[in-house]
Amino acid sequence: MRLDRFLGELNLGTRSQVKGLIRRGAVTVNGIPALNPDQRIDEATDRVALHGKELQYRRFVYYMLNKPEGVVSATRDNVSRTVVALLGKDAREDIFPVGRLDKDVTGLLLLTNDGELAHRLLSPKRHVDKTYLAVLAHGLRQADIRRLESGVDIGEERPTLPARVEVVEYDDAVFQTDKVSEARTVCPARTIRLTLHEGKFHQVKRMLQAVDNEVVSLRRIAFGGLCLDPKLRPGEYRELTGEELKILRTATAGDTEV
Ligand code: URA
Repeated sequence: MRLDRFLGELNLGTRSQVKGLIRRGAVTVNGIPALNPDQRIDEATDRVALHGKELQYRRFVYYMLNKPEGVVSATRDNVSRTVVALLGKDAREDIFPVGRLDKDVTGLLLLTNDGELAHRLLSPKRHVDKTYLAVLAHGLRQADIRRLESGVDIGEERPTLPARVEVVEYDDAVFQTDKVSEARTVCPARTIRLTLHEGKFHQVKRMLQAVDNEVVSLRRIAFGGLCLDPKLRPGEYRELTGEELKILRTATAGDTEV
């Protein structure tokens, strides 16, 4: 790997800042000042130091992004901005999103270069939890909730796996009509928290369609036991802490996939 890339991947500055550090003699490789940013190093065996302090290379990086609307969950796209582009031009080139959120869907998306962890998180056999906050076009009735929870037909070979539905907000409009008594008994939900143990294409939207409803807006608020950091505004991201990484590893632990 090139020396300037090695330093860039440790987030020690932009490419040009890193080149400046090298040219000023601040960087040594195996104790010898390295003055050429193009110099190639072996990140596994060479000892690289900045201002005399040895640097540890990190093979893998993990980010939590609050995905905004209008951005695609891809590494490249000819038309739209990608989630990877939100990390900026100095980000490592091997980072990819862990799964996809639709272009109009917001919220928690993990980005990493750790293919094995990503595979474990996405494996349909591991049933890693995903929680969404969905605002619906119509009030959702108790019978619909029971159907969503036990599994609905979304046109796949099998119905969806059992899911969990929690009502976050009731449909106030119904309480303002002459159907008040009905509303008191059926309590149609307007906003729900839906937890799935699988991740089929457009799954939440298709599940709500299956009960004659429609998703107006959708945000993922948790994935693999991690909650979206409320301090992250749409488009912002941060690295996962060691503790959060442990939570993800626990959620995908075990050798067997069922
Ligand atoms: N369900 C959807 O319909 N879309 C997503 O992006 C994620 C889950």
